Amino acid sequence: MPTFADFRSDTVTQPTPAMRDAMARAPVGDDVFGEDPTIIELEQEGARLLGKEAALFLPSGTMANQVSVNLWTRPGDEVLLHEGCHVFRFETGGLAMLSGVQARTLPGIGGVVPISLLDSEVRPTFDAYPRTSLVVLENTNNWEGGAVLGPTYIDSVGEWAHGHGLKVHLDGARLMNAAVALGVECADFTRHVDSVTLCLSKGLGAPVGTLLATTRDSVAAARRVRKRFGGGMRQAGILAAAGLLALRDGPRALADDHRRARRLHDLIAATAGMKAQFPASNMVIVSLQSRTVEDTVSILRERGILVLGFGPGRIRFVTHRDLTDADIDRAAATLNEVFLNS
Ligand SMILES: Cc1ncc(COP(=O)(O)O)c(C=O)c1O
Repeated sequence: MPTFADFRSDTVTQPTPAMRDAMARAPVGDDVFGEDPTIIELEQEGARLLGKEAALFLPSGTMANQVSVNLWTRPGDEVLLHEGCHVFRFETGGLAMLSGVQARTLPGIGGVVPISLLDSEVRPTFDAYPRTSLVVLENTNNWEGGAVLGPTYIDSVGEWAHGHGLKVHLDGARLMNAAVALGVECADFTRHVDSVTLCLSKGLGAPVGTLLATTRDSVAAARRVRKRFGGGMRQAGILAAAGLLALRDGPRALADDHRRARRLHDLIAATAGMKAQFPASNMVIVSLQSRTVEDTVSILRERGILVLGFGPGRIRFVTHRDLTDADIDRAAATLNEVFLNS
């Protein structure tokens, strides 16, 4: 059995010894009563980092997104979003099931839907039309290979949306990756969005948890929706303790993740039979020309390299803190060998 280098996602990281230690020692209370001191500390620190009045700790990025959609919409509304967005593609139909809204998906290179296109899709007021109420953005954009949206684009979508009476939710599961990639602060992306999420359990390394940040009043409303969706937690300060370390120490590892993704890209760029997309952050999407996705995933697994099939003809490599430079070299050498022999 080979030892595995796991490139499937940045969610596979193990909590560090410091996290486990902090979890064991965390002061806790009943968070449904708002009495968990470690969660309160995490929410305050998260709100400051995300440039919002208040924040809420939730079990997952999916729940944080779906609570946000529920905050800003009524059943029967329409939501505008990029066709690759996680909210639409990977949240098991939650838009329809949990909030009763429909998605209007739009194309855009690197997750950037042109404002002119958004503008043409806002429904006029007419009895036959759904009400357009929300725009969802995603940074980094997972389906587009960790593509980074710049603050200027996000600001302009926010300003445009508010001019039309629409709300904007930013799925910032990997917003810290975007901040590190551009050398800016997370708050630079959130000036004109109504809500933003940040996952602590992806590149930042915590075992569980996502922050949702918005105004104080909207956090109060989001607490009720979280409870309705079954996400009210009790002594979850043991999770928030790891989340605090993820927030404080996690960002330092991300520049290395991005450097390793670029290195992986460079090492495999010239390999015949596949095409690697240049990474803006910590993902490398490889388009296969001479093998199927299923074959490639299983042959790589036999050789100790774990990757995900990511749509027709595509596999995804994600770098994270539990991978080393040697893992990158090994993955590249394995890919070269597999494709040269195909
Ligand atoms: C962009 C994005 N948003 C949201 C999520 C959902 O996070 P979770 O797996 O914690 O539900 C993911 C998960 O990979 C993601 O990539």
